[in-house]
Amino acid sequence: MPTVRTLQEKANDEEITMLTAYDAPTAEIVDESGVDVILVGDSMGNAVLGYESTLPVTVDEMQSRTAAVARATDDALVVADMPFLSYGADESDTIQNCGRMLKEADANAVKLESGPHTVSVTERLVDLGIPVMAHLGLTPQRVHQLGGYFRQGTDEESAAEMLELAKAHEEAGAFSLVLEHVPSNVAAQITEALEIPTIGIGAGPDTDGQVLVLNDVFGLSDRSPYFSEQFGDVKGEMERAVAGFRDAVESGEFPAEEHSYSEDEIDDIY
Ligand code: KIV
Ligand code: NA
Repeated sequence: MPTVRTLQEKANDEEITMLTAYDAPTAEIVDESGVDVILVGDSMGNAVLGYESTLPVTVDEMQSRTAAVARATDDALVVADMPFLSYGADESDTIQNCGRMLKEADANAVKLESGPHTVSVTERLVDLGIPVMAHLGLTPQRVHQLGGYFRQGTDEESAAEMLELAKAHEEAGAFSLVLEHVPSNVAAQITEALEIPTIGIGAGPDTDGQVLVLNDVFGLSDRSPYFSEQFGDVKGEMERAVAGFRDAVESGEFPAEEHSYSEDEIDDIY
């Protein structure tokens, strides 16, 4: 059973695996398959709530989804991804919002999209006993500032800045670092420089682990980034199930005898 402390040990000889999940049934699947970390990503904005970005996701939504995931998870580390503006603006609000994820939703840790402003925030949260996963490179909550979902750290200066920020967050007590959409060599250099494990998405093969959005892995997304990979056709299976129901009802095959009430049966639906 991975903890924020044992993740590093695993990284020494194996790849760390992390997937998102946003509800109980899929969290159970991810957990039972032995994935190390379940991230209740704010990618739920796109993946389950139908938004165009992660920005509208609320702390209440994150708490509710994190609690559902935690209830279904026995082994994996559950990380709640803090929504846009729920951290970093006001220290007391930050602590309340992050604290809720551990107190009310049973998460093991929180993730913050990092920048210069989250170094002291990270330190404060860790002081209080709230483990923090950092996140550098493309930070999608900054989409309006960045002008799009562009690769980060593509020139020497920004790569050097990212390395310094990575070190500062390690120093502040972060237990791991997500690197999103950065050149492989930059991710490799940061991974080399840090003790804490790095988990990459669109960051090449040299991080300590890999993370993907579950909907992309399932083949459930309408569009997915070039760096993701579809490992199943869950959407196709869902479409077949729904079409099967529709056809069976329209043709009168469903409900059949075994679905129907008869007097000598007891009432419990199972
Ligand atoms: O919200 C999310 O799913 C994430 C991962 C892509 C790291 O932040
Ligand atoms: Na996120």
